[in-house]
Amino acid sequence: MIAPQLLSYDEARTIAKRRLPRMVFEYIDGTAGTGYGESLNLAAIARIRLQQRVLVDVAQRDLSVAVFEQKCLVPFGVSPMAMCNLAAPNTDRWLAKLSAKYQVPVGVSTIASSTLEQYIEWSEGFAWFQLYFSGDGTQTFKLLDRAKQAGYQSLVLTLDVPEVARRPRDQRHGFTIPFRMGPKQVLDFALHPRWSLSQVIAGIPKMANFLARDFHFDRGASRAKADWTTLRRIRERWQGKLIVKGITSVEDALRLASEGVDAIQVSGHGGRQLDALPPPIQQLRAIRDAIGSDYPLFYDSGIRSGEDVVKAYAMGANFVFLGRSIQYAAAAGAESGLTQWWKTLSDDVSITLALLGKTKLTEMSDCRLL
Ligand SMILES: Cc1cc2nc3c(=O)[nH]c(=O)nc-3n(C[C@H](O)[C@H](O)[C@H](O)COP(=O)(O)O)c2cc1C
Repeated sequence: MIAPQLLSYDEARTIAKRRLPRMVFEYIDGTAGTGYGESLNLAAIARIRLQQRVLVDVAQRDLSVAVFEQKCLVPFGVSPMAMCNLAAPNTDRWLAKLSAKYQVPVGVSTIASSTLEQYIEWSEGFAWFQLYFSGDGTQTFKLLDRAKQAGYQSLVLTLDVPEVARRPRDQRHGFTIPFRMGPKQVLDFALHPRWSLSQVIAGIPKMANFLARDFHFDRGASRAKADWTTLRRIRERWQGKLIVKGITSVEDALRLASEGVDAIQVSGHGGRQLDALPPPIQQLRAIRDAIGSDYPLFYDSGIRSGEDVVKAYAMGANFVFLGRSIQYAAAAGAESGLTQWWKTLSDDVSITLALLGKTKLTEMSDCRLL
């Protein structure tokens, strides 16, 4: 396969749309409700204006940033996403390899298409395990112990999914995990023979963590029972770094910090949960202003370019995570699509810094916003 040039998010998305069965594309691309929440956030990011400065020597620019005690070679990592191998077989492995090479976190979803043990090995220890609370919590705590045993140092607890939002595009195209095949799905797969064949050869992706005995997960089951006591139990049981993902409220952020959470990932789940959210990028600014400059804040949702990465740092992030763009790069160009997208983003971040008169991402906190 000749790898396409992935010079922008839109290019990657357009090629991915052509290559993926409609059902899979709609699952990745889809949002809750009408998608207005996602578009508001994208517009809010687009509206951010950064003041350039001139006559600063920006010949030597450094893209590395520190996350906890770890030096990351690029200022972005991969947000946890379910079933990445649906984009292309082996996507999980490629993501883990990128994570090791650039020393950045790759999130391993509870419902990943490879096991948490495979991910930690492939990523040479850089992976972070993402936990969903579900049911009465029995399975949740078992998974937490399993991640600890596998050698994970960081746990990402996602809290913005007390129920999976209604995603009309999933429903319209009959997306379920595992797949439920009807005539519509058979036709869809038949119309995308290259994808279908590659998946059959590699083995249809499954929720890999739940192939083990005594581990069960129902994607649609309620996760609504978690409360502050649950958080305390998790905090007591997990001695590594605890990151809470899916926060847009200043009050929640302050309370989480006071409960001993090590970092917060400000996120609107890419518009896939509450459609009525305020734009998460604005909430990042509000949370940073309230929580002070020292507390680690990470950000994801709506990052579509290196310039967007830089904007998120200007709004107060200490690290940025990518979602859909990663899946589209993999679907569009397999491993070389991913490495190309990685390079496009890195070049874009570096050039944006130069244009702003900055040499490091840490200098973005004093960039004037217009
Ligand atoms: C296909 C897909 C699956 C996802 N699965 C999970 C998941 O299992 N756990 C989780 O915490 N977030 C999940 N997310 C949300 C991402 O971690 C991230 O918050 C979001 O994609 C960022 O927005 P962006 O896609 O606009 O970059 C998923 C997102 C997508 C697109």
